[in-house]
Amino acid sequence: MVKIDLSGCAPFVYEGDYEFYKEKALEAYNVLDKETGAGNDFLGWKHLPSQTPESLIGQFEDIKAEWLRAGVDTVVVIGIGGSYLGAKCAIEALSHSFQSRMGRREDSLDVVFAGNNLSEDYLAELLDLMLRRSVATVVISKSGTTTEPAVAFRLVKNFIEDRYGKEEASRRIVAITDKSKGALRKMSDTEGYRTFVIEDNVGGRFSVLTPVGLLPIVLAGYDARQLLAGAAEAEKVCSEATENNPALKYAAMRNLLYSKGYKIELLVSFNPRLTYLGEWWKQLFGESEGKDGKGIFPASVNFTTDLHSMGQYIQDGERTLMETTVSVENSNRKLMINTDPENLDGLNFIATKRVEECNRMAEMGTRIAHIDGGVPQIRLSVERVDEFNLGSLFYFFEMSCGISAYILGVNPFNQPGVEAYKKNMFALLGKPGYEADAVALRERLPIGF
Ligand code: PA5
Repeated sequence: MVKIDLSGCAPFVYEGDYEFYKEKALEAYNVLDKETGAGNDFLGWKHLPSQTPESLIGQFEDIKAEWLRAGVDTVVVIGIGGSYLGAKCAIEALSHSFQSRMGRREDSLDVVFAGNNLSEDYLAELLDLMLRRSVATVVISKSGTTTEPAVAFRLVKNFIEDRYGKEEASRRIVAITDKSKGALRKMSDTEGYRTFVIEDNVGGRFSVLTPVGLLPIVLAGYDARQLLAGAAEAEKVCSEATENNPALKYAAMRNLLYSKGYKIELLVSFNPRLTYLGEWWKQLFGESEGKDGKGIFPASVNFTTDLHSMGQYIQDGERTLMETTVSVENSNRKLMINTDPENLDGLNFIATKRVEECNRMAEMGTRIAHIDGGVPQIRLSVERVDEFNLGSLFYFFEMSCGISAYILGVNPFNQPGVEAYKKNMFALLGKPGYEADAVALRERLPIGF
């Protein structure tokens, strides 16, 4: 389970201020719990861990088994934002760091992602890969109308149909979308694809514990039951209406720090497998809180890697940063640094220590240095990187985000700002209905476009 340590914030805040924000967090929690706040029709994520039936995971395992029997080795998971980041985060965190070069794990499929950009090179290279592999696809879009996944799916569908024929294609395509609305629903019904539903009351960035996250995780060979078990434990702990609730503490402290001018929060990890936890977290908090001219700007760094690129700024640049470190108590592997009789590199002082001990000392040294440099430190810790702890982290952050956004006074569950670029892109691409916008926009384009 996720533990929280706020002692690294003590030099930056008064105890009385924290008490005040804890009260605000408790009020915000009650609004979430009683479902009386803005966006209260998007609270379906709250009980997913405890209410998801076992049989759903069984259905995902059946698809994996069927595809493996049919010789499929690669699954293209198509989606953007909340429709891919959770699965990407979990699969990256659970996979061998060199998985693609180590070869496919037994009883699993190689999951690759598409539909999260509009790069022609990326999609052409995806087709290169698909030519060498036996492919199936999972296309995910709640609205069923998002351009990036729709473009990728059109290309992937065309490839699969050409290669395997229409009938086999309908067995190799699974769609996850709305139960009745959107182009993807219509297409799935027409073509006879298997589908799973994203319920109306779960927003994209809160959907990792629905089929959106769980199906790709199962296909990649990881244990979705354990993921849900970890999330269920967090559901219990984060549903306490007391100040022991870690989600409440986190939400209270980050808002207090924000009120004191710490406008940017860095999510820090000392394990490269957690890089995509930062990406998932940025979407969750950025899209939920960044509105009405308010919101902590979420960014992420990986240490010690980024201490050699961003370290100078963090230590010594403008003092608007706070850090939240996701600390992992135990590595999954053990590796000791060997003794070298010649000691030409001068490293014998750490010989016989585990690499993880060096990493831990780097973490502690960084924490103290950054406190001295004026960067408040929130520390979250989990026992290890595995399905259970990832599930806990997902739920912990979702609950913290809901509470935090209500403290800030914004609706955590809408994203009106995301529409602005889409409107312009449609107009510039000549979508019917956007003609007048297109004329106005073309006048504003820089020379060369
Ligand atoms: O959190 C959100 O709602 C968004 O990030 C969406 O997940 C993203 O825009 C993709 O939308 P859709 O699943 O409708 O294609």
